[in-house]
Parts: sequence; structure tokens; C-alpha cells
Amino acid sequence: MTAVLPAQVGLAGDGREGRATGAGRPGATPSRIRPVRPVNVLVGVDPVVCRPATDTATCAAHHAIRHAVFVAEQGVFADSDLDAHDARDDVVHVLATHLGRPAGTVRLYPAGRPGEWVGDRLAVLPGFRSAAIGGPLVRFAVEAAGARDGTRMRAHVQLPNERFFHRLGWSTDGPVETYVGHPHIPMSTPLAGPTTPWLAGPGRAA
Ligand SMILES: CC(C)(COP(=O)(O)OP(=O)(O)OC[C@H]1O[C@@H](n2cnc3c(N)ncnc32)[C@H](O)[C@@H]1OP(=O)(O)O)[C@@H](O)C(=O)NCCC(=O)NCCS
Repeated sequence: MTAVLPAQVGLAGDGREGRATGAGRPGATPSRIRPVRPVNVLVGVDPVVCRPATDTATCAAHHAIRHAVFVAEQGVFADSDLDAHDARDDVVHVLATHLGRPAGTVRLYPAGRPGEWVGDRLAVLPGFRSAAIGGPLVRFAVEAAGARDGTRMRAHVQLPNERFFHRLGWSTDGPVETYVGHPHIPMSTPLAGPTTPWLAGPGRAA
């Protein structure tokens, strides 16, 4: 089978689409091939995948994104955004990929009160923003905490993102407060039981 490269056919909307170069020219061999314009077809495949970062590579990607966003881009943390929660046994580090490329993160862990979970470190790399990655990450965190018997998830949300969370069904719980040295809004959402058993984590899936 002969591959037809874009350079060999007219693809610039100049009316030559679908004709092999050379056909019709004096001395040229008429081509029976009618190449079609190449298209990217992605049917029934979600390019965004969220999953717990459990191996070395996905953990490294998770932390690299957090560092890129919260240290390098936003300067929320001076040197590192790591804290004691990252070392907990019950913390869930989540990595979102877009067509296999690391694109976003979220972290969740149980809070002090029974049933209460905290979601934080929601970050999407600048080049992947507004591509429906942040929304799925929040929904994934909510599902994962619900699957672990959580009943409510709380978050300290940066002011410009309050509307983003409202659109995801979260409610504002109080006035602006200072969190990690910056103004944030306390927000929360109720958690439902698991709809996807494997989200409950190792040894908990039905
Ligand atoms: C906030 C953030 C996670 C959103 O991620 P994203 O992948 O760009 O969001 P999505 O594409 O999933 O957005 C879902 C919807 O919310 C909208 N949206 C995104 N950010 C928004 C914001 N700050 N305010 C209001 N709406 C917003 C999108 O336009 C989209 O709308 P649509 O469904 O009508 O298209 C991302 O902008 C980010 O990482 N910012 C820097 C770090 C940060 O602020 N983290 C959160 C700390 S609380």
C-alpha cells in the first residue's frame, strides 16, 4: 500500500484536495488512488484519564505538576508544596493525563472529623487548561472520597475559582480566610457512595 503524504496532495483548501499530484500532467501516470484528507478521529475515547498515582513514574509526574503550578507559576509556596499529608498512608495522589501526557493533579485525604475529607492541590498545567481536565479531577476526587466512606469533602479554594467549584455543585461555607498565606474560600460538597468499586482503593473494592 502506498502512503500518500500531505505534501503530495493538495490539502490547503486550494481545490486540489483528493487528487494525486501529477495526475493529468503530461507524461504523468494517472493515479487510481483518490487520497482523502487526513483527519484525526477520536470516537468514543475520552482523552482525559484520572487515576491514583501509585507507581514511581506517576507519583513523579503528579509532584512535578504541583511544583510547576504552585511553586513556579503561582508562588503559593516558596520552594516546595510538599507537606506532612503527602506522607500519610491514607492520602490519595491523583494524576490526570491527556492522551497519555501528564496534565493535572488533585490530592485527597481524610480530615479529622469522621466522614470528612479534604481535597487540595488541584492543578492543571497551563497548556492543558480549559480542556476539561480540572472538572474531571474534582469529580474523581469526590468519587474516590465517597468510595472510601466519606460523607463530605472540604477544600480551601482560591478566590478566582469559586465559580468553577459552584459549577461543579460545591457550596461556599463561609467568608474568605487565609490559607497557606493567601486568601481562600472554604467550600464543600456532599459525597455519595461509590459508583465505581475500584475507586475504593486496594483491598476495599467489592
Ligand atoms: C482551576 C483549574 C484547576 C481549572 O482547570 P481546567 O482544566 O482549566 O478546568 P476545566 O476545563 O475542567 O473547566 C470546566 C469549566 O469551568 C470553567 N472554568 C475553568 N476555570 C474557571 C474559573 N476559575 N472560574 C470559572 N469557571 C472556570 C471552564 O471554562 C469550563 O467551562 P465549560 O464547561 O463551560 O467549558 C486550572 O485553571 C488551574 O490549574 N489553575 C491554577 C491552579 C489553581 O488555581 N488550582 C486551584 C486551587 S483552588
